[in-house]
Amino acid sequence: MPSSTTATRRSRTRPAGVPSPVAMFFQGFLKHPVMVGSIIPSSDKLIRKMLKPVDWATCKVFVEYGPGVGTFCRPILDRMAPDAILIAIDTNPDFINYLNHVITDSRFFAVHGSAADVERIVQDHGHEKADYVLSGLPFSTLPAGVGPAIAAATQRVIRPGGAFLVYQFSPKVKDFLTPHFQTIDHDMEWWNVPPAQLYWAWKD
Ligand SMILES: C[S@@+](CC[C@H](N)C(=O)[O-])C[C@H]1O[C@@H](n2cnc3c(N)ncnc32)[C@H](O)[C@@H]1O
Repeated sequence: MPSSTTATRRSRTRPAGVPSPVAMFFQGFLKHPVMVGSIIPSSDKLIRKMLKPVDWATCKVFVEYGPGVGTFCRPILDRMAPDAILIAIDTNPDFINYLNHVITDSRFFAVHGSAADVERIVQDHGHEKADYVLSGLPFSTLPAGVGPAIAAATQRVIRPGGAFLVYQFSPKVKDFLTPHFQTIDHDMEWWNVPPAQLYWAWKD
């Protein structure tokens, strides 16, 4: 029976009283418009394209900046090896509480903090380096100095051969990447609101 199947699936992913991802994201945008930077979570097409170059077989530590309501978290966990971990870092405690409610995978760690502290956060989880870092941060609207500090810390924390995956609505985000990464691949995803620039910055 379709109605009971749907109810079962919903109750498994979202306990009673926990808002839907879209409602939660919109609430987050209303509270912190500059830090959230978007009113709609990323599209499936954007997620697939962004994650395509990742070598999941060698990925043991994946870090995500600005997970919001976890739009990328489940697709990452679906692709990740059983012994890999996903560390999701967000400055918004409402999003971190929400993620801890709705994602119960033991490979998942939601951390309330800033991406600028990624090195300490990765060390706190028992690792020196990350294989991949994904960013949905609104780089151009972050407080002065924060974007460059995050880009520099990210370059240090990624292991050689790993990559910094960045999606952003403005191509200006590339200015944050070029001082730290020599090899940067680029693409665009139109099927997203708004259309997004995608960058893969590889650590040599
Ligand atoms: C555009 S939204 C996230 C979109 C979401 N990843 C998606 O794909 O739908 C940006 C997120 O970055 C978070 N954020 C802003 N500044 C941050 C920082 N310095 N460190 C970590 N997260 C930050 C915001 O709280 C927000 O959740």
